[in-house]
Amino acid sequence: MPGKVLIAYTSRRGTTEEIARAIGAELEAAGNTVTVADMKGIASIEGYGAVIIGSPVYLGQVEKAVHAFVARNRDGLLPVPVAAFAVGITPVNSPAAAVEEVLGNLRTALEPVKPVGITMFAGRLELSRLSFLERTMIGAMKILTGDFRDWDAIRAWARELQAVSRL
Ligand SMILES: Cc1cc2nc3c(=O)[nH]c(=O)nc-3n(C[C@H](O)[C@H](O)[C@H](O)COP(=O)(O)O)c2cc1C
Repeated sequence: MPGKVLIAYTSRRGTTEEIARAIGAELEAAGNTVTVADMKGIASIEGYGAVIIGSPVYLGQVEKAVHAFVARNRDGLLPVPVAAFAVGITPVNSPAAAVEEVLGNLRTALEPVKPVGITMFAGRLELSRLSFLERTMIGAMKILTGDFRDWDAIRAWARELQAVSRL
């Protein structure tokens, strides 16, 4: 059933924000009214029938902004369906167990909220967008760089959420 959906993201370099906007566009196409906003600036979640939370992963962790957003809006989040996605390079470079570990961290950040859907999307890691220090770190780790976002998978997850969670 279509409804009013909030997509609350945090993003250092726009990668997660663009994914949040693509999910929003898909849910709007399905008839929902969608607000996509940086979670740091969201004063209230009142009136939304569902909330989707998105965060990039840095050094294995989702952003502190997620913990803060959930703590701030705990009472409003508990009664509505909440879904969450992480964005990072782990799905590209690492075994499935590493993705599971990130999802475990995301679940912990959401507590006591129990998500109706949770996933990790491959993100974007481009050396030219990084600071000197980050470039040195990433270079030393010898991991693949590039834009690995799979827009079909992102849109499919949005449709799946709509179907399974009464979004
Ligand atoms: C210093 C640094 C550390 C990172 N650590 C991780 C990590 O531990 N796991 C992961 O999956 N991705 C990691 N990434 C990749 C980012 O999550 C990825 O670039 C993401 O798309 C960034 O999203 P954003 O532009 O929304 O901030 C790291 C990137 C940088 C620059």
